[in-house]
Amino acid sequence: MSAEILKYGMVGGGPGAFIGEVHRTAARFDGKNILTAGSFSRDYQKTLKTGKDLGIDENRLYKNYTEMAEKESELADGIDFVSVVTPNHTHFEVAEAFLSQGISVVCDKPVTTSSQEASKLKQLAEKNDAEFCVTYTYSGYPMVKEAKELVEKGEIGDIRVIMGEYPQEWLAEPTEEENKQASWRIDPNQAGISNCIGDIGSHIEHTVSYISGLEISKLSANLDTFVAGRELDDNGEVMIKYENGATGMYWASQVAVGNDNGLKVRIFGSKGSLEWSQENPNYLYFSKLGEATKILSRGHGYLGNEAQKSNRIPPGHPEGYFEAFANIYANFSAALLEKKKKGKIEEQDFDYPTITEGLRGVKFIEKCVASSQQGASWVDFE
Ligand SMILES: NC(=O)c1ccc[n+]([C@@H]2O[C@H](COP(=O)([O-])OP(=O)(O)OC[C@H]3O[C@@H](n4cnc5c(N)ncnc54)[C@H](O)[C@@H]3O)[C@@H](O)[C@H]2O)c1
Repeated sequence: MSAEILKYGMVGGGPGAFIGEVHRTAARFDGKNILTAGSFSRDYQKTLKTGKDLGIDENRLYKNYTEMAEKESELADGIDFVSVVTPNHTHFEVAEAFLSQGISVVCDKPVTTSSQEASKLKQLAEKNDAEFCVTYTYSGYPMVKEAKELVEKGEIGDIRVIMGEYPQEWLAEPTEEENKQASWRIDPNQAGISNCIGDIGSHIEHTVSYISGLEISKLSANLDTFVAGRELDDNGEVMIKYENGATGMYWASQVAVGNDNGLKVRIFGSKGSLEWSQENPNYLYFSKLGEATKILSRGHGYLGNEAQKSNRIPPGHPEGYFEAFANIYANFSAALLEKKKKGKIEEQDFDYPTITEGLRGVKFIEKCVASSQQGASWVDFE
């Protein structure tokens, strides 16, 4: 196999799963990653079926992730990294098993169900010289990268106000009995301490942080559960104070009838503002004080470097979720390939979310829950 190709394994992503197939599609987009091993389900028969459908050698299909981590680390041509696409409560133990063998990890968000666990994974990755990517999808979109670059260039001045929202309607009724994805998200034993803020509030937190570069100083959160019988939140509002004095408001909801995946971020500065929506992701609204609003379009030569680099097809042909995910994999694979060649990389040279962002995201969820439990009191972020 060419030195320019990486081999990877997957834990989770069995029959009927959602994000596993998105990861597989994204990982193969640029021809840099080949899926060579898997433990796709806790049920070995399902792992065998998925593995066979994907054309994976049966010797590389494992009964569980522990066996996979051990056996793959012993092989001369073992996997370069593993993608963890299981429900939240398993992320820590699965990632720990691979990191312990020095195998790099891609893990979906939230990276763990406690910040203590996320800290442990960060330390373990550093100790064993492994890389760690957390797939915060929206930072992979070219027009989100453009927004980040415009902020960095000072085009909107000092940031004053941020509005982030992620409304969905899919849990407006108690559908969890029939819906596999809903069933574990509303269960504290599998989702962790939050459902809605953990699942989609975490996307607002990361997207805002990626574009603005601002650090949260304190927050006040109000989480509610509107559908009877649920233990965890299905709607939440969070007020934020950032370290630079800016203020923000995030709203995440799974009971917002009429909305699919309405992530929208608006950032207002002293000289201008930006607006990006994930359901219209190829465009970025850019306003300068006193001027008409411009609609920047993906794929054009007038955009900055990062948006140009992550662009794939001409403007007007829509790019979306798969391409954004593929951009994260492309940057992570580039980092691992460079490390193979040079023995060492500087993480900040590669544009993908790491365990540092993953840890911050879990802390955000914990702070929101703590604040809400104290009657939406302000809590320091630290
Ligand atoms: N980045 C994003 O935009 C995004 C979107 C959706 C989901 N997610 C995250 O991805 C993860 C999975 O979510 P989903 O919606 O795909 O869930 P899902 O229920 O559709 O799939 C989970 C899969 O994991 C398998 N599994 C569970 N335990 C396992 C184990 N011990 N070993 C092997 N396989 C196991 C299940 O059989 C299933 O195939 C969650 O952490 C979720 O928060 C992220």
